[in-house]
Amino acid sequence: MQYDIDRLNRQLDADGQITYVRGPGDLVIAEIANEAASASVSLYGGHVLSYRRHEGQPVLWLSGKSWYEIGKPIRGGIPVCWPWFGAHPTDPSLPGHGLARIHCWEVLEAAAPAPGVTVLTLGLRNSPETLNLWPFPFSLRLRVTVGSTLRLDLTTENPGHRAITLTQALHTYFAISDIARIRVEGFDGCPFIDTVGGANRIGTQQGDITFSEETDLVLLECPGDACVVDPGLGRRIRIAKEGSRSGVVWNPWIAKSARMPDFGDNEYPGMVCVETTNAPGDEAVIDPGQSTTLTAIILTDDLVSARGD
Ligand code: BG6
Repeated sequence: MQYDIDRLNRQLDADGQITYVRGPGDLVIAEIANEAASASVSLYGGHVLSYRRHEGQPVLWLSGKSWYEIGKPIRGGIPVCWPWFGAHPTDPSLPGHGLARIHCWEVLEAAAPAPGVTVLTLGLRNSPETLNLWPFPFSLRLRVTVGSTLRLDLTTENPGHRAITLTQALHTYFAISDIARIRVEGFDGCPFIDTVGGANRIGTQQGDITFSEETDLVLLECPGDACVVDPGLGRRIRIAKEGSRSGVVWNPWIAKSARMPDFGDNEYPGMVCVETTNAPGDEAVIDPGQSTTLTAIILTDDLVSARGD
Protein backbone atom coordinates (compact mmCIF):
# COMPACT_ATOMS: atom_id res chain seq x y z
CA MET A 1 0.00 0.00 0.00
CA GLN A 2 1.23 3.49 -0.85
CA TYR A 3 0.70 5.91 2.03
CA ASP A 4 0.32 9.64 1.49
CA ILE A 5 2.14 10.84 4.60
CA ASP A 6 1.32 14.51 4.01
CA ARG A 7 -2.38 13.72 3.81
CA LEU A 8 -2.22 11.56 6.95
CA ASN A 9 -0.47 14.37 8.82
CA ARG A 10 -3.03 16.90 7.60
CA GLN A 11 -6.21 14.88 8.06
CA LEU A 12 -5.64 12.15 10.63
CA ASP A 13 -3.40 13.77 13.24
CA ALA A 14 -5.83 13.74 16.22
CA ASP A 15 -5.42 17.46 16.94
CA GLY A 16 -1.66 17.30 16.52
CA GLN A 17 -1.22 14.26 18.78
CA ILE A 18 -0.25 11.91 15.95
CA THR A 19 2.67 12.41 13.56
CA TYR A 20 3.29 9.99 10.71
CA VAL A 21 6.92 9.41 9.85
CA ARG A 22 8.99 6.92 7.90
CA GLY A 23 10.76 4.57 10.30
CA PRO A 24 13.13 1.63 9.93
CA GLY A 25 12.84 -0.18 6.62
CA ASP A 26 10.88 2.85 5.34
CA LEU A 27 7.78 1.58 7.16
CA VAL A 28 5.23 4.26 8.05
CA ILE A 29 4.96 4.78 11.80
CA ALA A 30 2.27 6.74 13.67
CA GLU A 31 3.97 8.47 16.59
CA ILE A 32 1.45 9.33 19.28
CA ALA A 33 2.05 11.73 22.17
CA ASN A 34 -0.43 13.29 24.59
CA GLU A 35 -0.45 14.61 28.16
CA ALA A 36 -0.36 11.13 29.66
CA ALA A 37 1.71 8.87 27.44
CA SER A 38 3.43 8.20 24.16
CA ALA A 39 3.31 5.27 21.76
CA SER A 40 4.24 4.30 18.24
CA VAL A 41 2.31 2.13 15.83
CA SER A 42 3.52 0.66 12.54
CA LEU A 43 0.86 0.79 9.81
CA TYR A 44 2.52 -2.32 8.42
CA GLY A 45 1.09 -5.10 10.56
CA GLY A 46 -1.20 -2.78 12.55
CA HIS A 47 1.59 -3.27 15.03
CA VAL A 48 2.04 -1.31 18.27
CA LEU A 49 5.81 -0.92 18.68
CA SER A 50 6.13 1.07 21.89
CA TYR A 51 4.17 2.54 24.77
CA ARG A 52 5.10 4.42 27.92
CA ARG A 53 3.38 6.68 30.38
CA HIS A 54 5.41 9.87 30.78
CA GLU A 55 6.31 9.03 34.36
CA GLY A 56 6.99 5.37 33.58
CA GLN A 57 9.46 3.18 31.75
CA PRO A 58 8.93 1.55 28.34
CA VAL A 59 6.32 -1.18 28.69
CA LEU A 60 6.91 -3.09 25.46
CA TRP A 61 9.98 -4.99 24.31
CA LEU A 62 11.25 -4.77 20.75
CA SER A 63 14.12 -6.88 19.46
CA GLY A 64 17.28 -5.15 18.27
CA LYS A 65 17.35 -7.83 15.55
CA SER A 66 13.81 -7.35 14.26
CA TRP A 67 13.12 -7.27 10.57
CA TYR A 68 11.36 -4.17 9.28
CA GLU A 69 10.52 -5.57 5.92
CA ILE A 70 7.25 -6.08 4.06
CA GLY A 71 6.47 -9.80 4.10
CA LYS A 72 8.23 -10.48 7.41
CA PRO A 73 6.79 -9.94 10.89
CA ILE A 74 8.20 -7.38 13.33
CA ARG A 75 9.71 -9.02 16.43
CA GLY A 76 8.41 -7.42 19.61
CA GLY A 77 5.73 -4.86 20.46
CA ILE A 78 2.23 -6.24 19.87
CA PRO A 79 1.90 -8.37 16.73
CA VAL A 80 -1.69 -9.00 15.67
CA CYS A 81 -1.99 -12.75 15.10
CA TRP A 82 -5.06 -13.24 12.94
CA PRO A 83 -7.06 -15.15 11.59
CA TRP A 84 -5.08 -18.06 12.94
CA PHE A 85 -2.78 -18.34 15.91
CA GLY A 86 0.50 -20.25 15.52
CA ALA A 87 0.87 -22.62 12.60
CA HIS A 88 -2.08 -22.86 10.20
CA PRO A 89 -4.18 -25.83 11.38
CA THR A 90 -4.06 -27.72 8.07
CA ASP A 91 -1.42 -26.08 5.85
CA PRO A 92 1.96 -25.45 7.50
CA SER A 93 3.21 -23.66 4.37
CA LEU A 94 0.96 -20.68 5.21
CA PRO A 95 2.43 -17.84 7.32
CA GLY A 96 2.69 -18.51 11.05
CA HIS A 97 0.28 -16.45 13.16
CA GLY A 98 -1.82 -15.54 10.13
CA LEU A 99 -1.86 -12.70 7.66
CA ALA A 100 -2.62 -9.51 9.63
CA ARG A 101 0.91 -8.91 10.90
CA ILE A 102 2.37 -9.05 7.38
CA HIS A 103 -0.08 -6.73 5.62
CA CYS A 104 -0.32 -2.95 5.42
CA TRP A 105 -3.29 -1.46 7.23
CA GLU A 106 -5.22 1.67 6.38
CA VAL A 107 -5.74 4.56 8.83
CA LEU A 108 -9.51 4.84 9.34
CA GLU A 109 -9.80 7.36 12.14
CA ALA A 110 -7.77 9.43 14.57
CA ALA A 111 -9.24 11.23 17.55
CA ALA A 112 -8.42 12.97 20.81
CA PRO A 113 -11.64 12.35 22.75
CA ALA A 114 -10.39 13.59 26.16
CA PRO A 115 -7.26 15.14 27.65
CA GLY A 116 -4.50 12.55 27.73
CA VAL A 117 -6.34 10.11 25.43
CA THR A 118 -5.57 9.50 21.75
CA VAL A 119 -7.35 6.93 19.61
CA LEU A 120 -5.97 5.60 16.36
CA THR A 121 -8.14 3.19 14.38
CA LEU A 122 -6.62 1.05 11.65
CA GLY A 123 -8.41 -1.22 9.19
CA LEU A 124 -7.68 -4.20 6.99
CA ARG A 125 -10.05 -5.75 4.47
CA ASN A 126 -9.95 -8.79 2.28
CA SER A 127 -8.07 -8.43 -1.00
CA PRO A 128 -7.18 -10.93 -3.71
CA GLU A 129 -3.96 -11.53 -1.79
CA THR A 130 -5.67 -12.25 1.55
CA LEU A 131 -8.27 -14.45 -0.18
CA ASN A 132 -5.39 -16.59 -1.46
CA LEU A 133 -4.27 -17.12 2.12
CA TRP A 134 -7.68 -17.31 3.77
CA PRO A 135 -10.80 -17.72 1.60
CA PHE A 136 -13.20 -15.45 3.52
CA PRO A 137 -14.29 -11.83 3.10
CA PHE A 138 -13.62 -9.80 6.25
CA SER A 139 -13.35 -6.37 7.72
CA LEU A 140 -10.85 -6.05 10.55
CA ARG A 141 -10.46 -3.00 12.75
CA LEU A 142 -7.80 -2.31 15.38
CA ARG A 143 -8.57 0.53 17.73
CA VAL A 144 -5.52 1.61 19.73
CA THR A 145 -6.26 3.87 22.71
CA VAL A 146 -3.21 5.53 24.20
CA GLY A 147 -3.50 7.21 27.60
CA SER A 148 -2.67 6.34 31.19
CA THR A 149 -3.52 2.81 30.03
CA LEU A 150 -2.99 1.19 26.64
CA ARG A 151 -6.06 -0.46 25.17
CA LEU A 152 -6.35 -2.51 21.99
CA ASP A 153 -9.71 -3.54 20.55
CA LEU A 154 -9.48 -5.90 17.58
CA THR A 155 -12.85 -6.26 15.87
CA THR A 156 -13.56 -8.75 13.11
CA GLU A 157 -16.72 -8.34 11.03
CA ASN A 158 -17.99 -11.13 8.86
CA PRO A 159 -19.64 -9.60 5.76
CA GLY A 160 -19.85 -13.00 4.03
CA HIS A 161 -22.44 -15.75 3.84
CA ARG A 162 -20.60 -18.44 5.80
CA ALA A 163 -19.72 -18.53 9.47
CA ILE A 164 -16.01 -18.02 10.14
CA THR A 165 -13.92 -19.49 12.92
CA LEU A 166 -10.90 -17.59 14.18
CA THR A 167 -7.99 -18.15 16.43
CA GLN A 168 -6.19 -14.90 17.18
CA ALA A 169 -3.91 -13.07 19.58
CA LEU A 170 -2.73 -9.69 20.71
CA HIS A 171 0.76 -11.11 21.12
CA THR A 172 2.19 -8.66 23.64
CA TYR A 173 5.95 -8.63 24.31
CA PHE A 174 6.65 -6.97 27.66
CA ALA A 175 9.98 -5.41 28.67
CA ILE A 176 11.17 -6.85 31.98
CA SER A 177 14.28 -6.65 34.17
CA ASP A 178 15.18 -10.33 34.19
CA ILE A 179 13.12 -13.36 33.17
CA ALA A 180 14.56 -15.38 36.06
CA ARG A 181 13.25 -12.87 38.61
CA ILE A 182 9.77 -12.06 37.42
CA ARG A 183 6.54 -13.97 37.88
CA VAL A 184 3.24 -14.02 36.01
CA GLU A 185 0.13 -14.13 38.15
CA GLY A 186 -3.42 -14.92 37.12
CA PHE A 187 -3.30 -18.47 35.78
CA ASP A 188 -3.38 -20.50 38.99
CA GLY A 189 -5.69 -23.50 38.49
CA CYS A 190 -6.03 -23.05 34.71
CA PRO A 191 -5.62 -26.05 32.41
CA PHE A 192 -2.64 -25.66 30.11
CA ILE A 193 -1.02 -27.20 27.05
CA ASP A 194 2.74 -27.04 27.23
CA THR A 195 3.90 -26.81 23.59
CA VAL A 196 7.68 -26.64 24.13
CA GLY A 197 9.48 -28.72 21.52
CA GLY A 198 6.28 -29.37 19.58
CA ALA A 199 4.93 -31.64 22.31
CA ASN A 200 1.47 -31.07 23.71
CA ARG A 201 1.77 -31.85 27.39
CA ILE A 202 -1.46 -31.23 29.26
CA GLY A 203 -1.50 -30.05 32.86
CA THR A 204 -2.97 -27.63 35.35
CA GLN A 205 -1.08 -24.50 36.37
CA GLN A 206 -0.20 -24.45 40.05
CA GLY A 207 0.43 -20.97 41.46
CA ASP A 208 2.26 -18.23 39.60
CA ILE A 209 4.31 -18.87 36.46
CA THR A 210 8.06 -18.50 36.97
CA PHE A 211 10.81 -19.10 34.43
CA SER A 212 13.94 -21.27 34.46
CA GLU A 213 13.81 -22.74 30.94
CA GLU A 214 11.98 -22.36 27.61
CA THR A 215 8.32 -21.75 28.37
CA ASP A 216 5.46 -21.98 25.86
CA LEU A 217 2.12 -22.43 27.59
CA VAL A 218 -1.35 -22.18 26.09
CA LEU A 219 -3.61 -21.54 29.08
CA LEU A 220 -7.32 -22.22 28.86
CA GLU A 221 -10.38 -21.25 30.91
CA CYS A 222 -8.68 -18.04 32.07
CA PRO A 223 -10.99 -15.06 31.41
CA GLY A 224 -9.47 -12.96 34.24
CA ASP A 225 -6.60 -10.49 34.49
CA ALA A 226 -2.96 -11.53 34.32
CA CYS A 227 -0.09 -9.64 35.98
CA VAL A 228 3.62 -9.46 35.26
CA VAL A 229 5.28 -8.77 38.61
CA ASP A 230 8.78 -7.38 38.16
CA PRO A 231 10.65 -6.55 41.37
CA GLY A 232 13.78 -5.59 39.39
CA LEU A 233 11.98 -2.74 37.61
CA GLY A 234 9.72 -2.08 40.61
CA ARG A 235 6.74 -2.59 38.35
CA ARG A 236 3.57 -4.56 38.01
CA ILE A 237 1.88 -4.76 34.60
CA ARG A 238 -1.76 -5.80 34.65
CA ILE A 239 -3.34 -7.21 31.50
CA ALA A 240 -7.11 -7.09 31.57
CA LYS A 241 -9.09 -8.50 28.69
CA GLU A 242 -12.47 -9.02 27.08
CA GLY A 243 -13.56 -11.57 24.50
CA SER A 244 -10.90 -14.06 25.57
CA ARG A 245 -10.89 -17.16 27.74
CA SER A 246 -7.34 -18.22 26.91
CA GLY A 247 -3.80 -16.85 27.02
CA VAL A 248 -0.27 -17.73 26.00
CA VAL A 249 2.86 -17.21 28.08
CA TRP A 250 6.14 -17.50 26.19
CA ASN A 251 9.85 -17.06 26.62
CA PRO A 252 12.17 -18.78 24.11
CA TRP A 253 15.16 -19.11 26.47
CA ILE A 254 18.62 -19.93 25.07
CA ALA A 255 18.38 -22.56 22.30
CA LYS A 256 15.21 -21.25 20.63
CA SER A 257 16.54 -17.65 20.71
CA ALA A 258 19.64 -18.88 18.92
CA ARG A 259 17.49 -20.52 16.24
CA MET A 260 15.50 -17.34 15.50
CA PRO A 261 17.35 -15.04 13.07
CA ASP A 262 15.32 -12.00 14.14
CA PHE A 263 15.91 -12.46 17.87
CA GLY A 264 19.25 -11.66 19.55
CA ASP A 265 20.94 -14.59 21.29
CA ASN A 266 21.17 -12.64 24.55
CA GLU A 267 17.83 -10.86 24.44
CA TYR A 268 15.56 -13.46 26.04
CA PRO A 269 16.14 -12.37 29.69
CA GLY A 270 14.64 -8.95 28.90
CA MET A 271 11.25 -10.07 27.56
CA VAL A 272 8.17 -12.10 28.31
CA CYS A 273 5.07 -12.56 26.18
CA VAL A 274 1.72 -12.64 27.93
CA GLU A 275 -0.71 -12.89 25.07
CA THR A 276 -4.42 -12.16 25.02
CA THR A 277 -5.83 -14.85 22.81
CA ASN A 278 -8.57 -16.90 21.31
CA ALA A 279 -6.21 -19.87 21.15
CA PRO A 280 -7.19 -23.27 19.75
CA GLY A 281 -9.79 -24.55 22.21
CA ASP A 282 -11.14 -20.99 22.64
CA GLU A 283 -11.97 -20.17 19.02
CA ALA A 284 -14.21 -17.24 18.08
CA VAL A 285 -17.05 -18.15 15.71
CA ILE A 286 -18.65 -15.28 13.77
CA ASP A 287 -21.92 -15.78 11.97
CA PRO A 288 -22.63 -13.91 8.71
CA GLY A 289 -23.27 -10.23 9.38
CA GLN A 290 -21.90 -10.47 12.93
CA SER A 291 -18.68 -9.30 14.56
CA THR A 292 -16.45 -10.18 17.47
CA THR A 293 -13.97 -8.10 19.48
CA LEU A 294 -10.85 -9.16 21.30
CA THR A 295 -9.66 -6.55 23.81
CA ALA A 296 -6.48 -6.16 25.87
CA ILE A 297 -6.05 -3.39 28.41
CA ILE A 298 -2.56 -2.85 29.78
CA LEU A 299 -2.11 -1.00 33.06
CA THR A 300 1.16 -0.41 34.85
CA ASP A 301 1.85 0.59 38.40
CA ASP A 302 4.64 0.38 40.91
CA LEU A 303 5.03 -2.56 43.21
CA VAL A 304 3.72 -1.02 46.40
CA SER A 305 0.69 -3.29 46.31
CA ALA A 306 2.42 -6.36 44.84
CA ARG A 307 2.50 -9.44 47.02
CA GLY A 308 5.71 -9.94 48.97
CA ASP A 309 7.80 -7.23 47.26
C1 BG6 B 1 4.12 -17.68 20.58
C2 BG6 B 1 4.11 -19.17 20.37
O1 BG6 B 1 2.82 -17.23 20.66
O2 BG6 B 1 4.77 -17.05 19.49
C3 BG6 B 1 5.54 -19.66 20.21
O3 BG6 B 1 3.47 -19.79 21.47
C4 BG6 B 1 6.21 -18.93 19.07
O4 BG6 B 1 5.54 -21.06 19.97
C5 BG6 B 1 6.11 -17.43 19.33
O5 BG6 B 1 7.56 -19.32 18.97
C6 BG6 B 1 6.76 -16.56 18.25
O6 BG6 B 1 6.21 -16.87 17.00
P1 BG6 B 1 6.77 -16.17 15.71
O7 BG6 B 1 6.00 -16.73 14.56
O8 BG6 B 1 6.58 -14.69 15.86
O9 BG6 B 1 8.25 -16.53 15.67
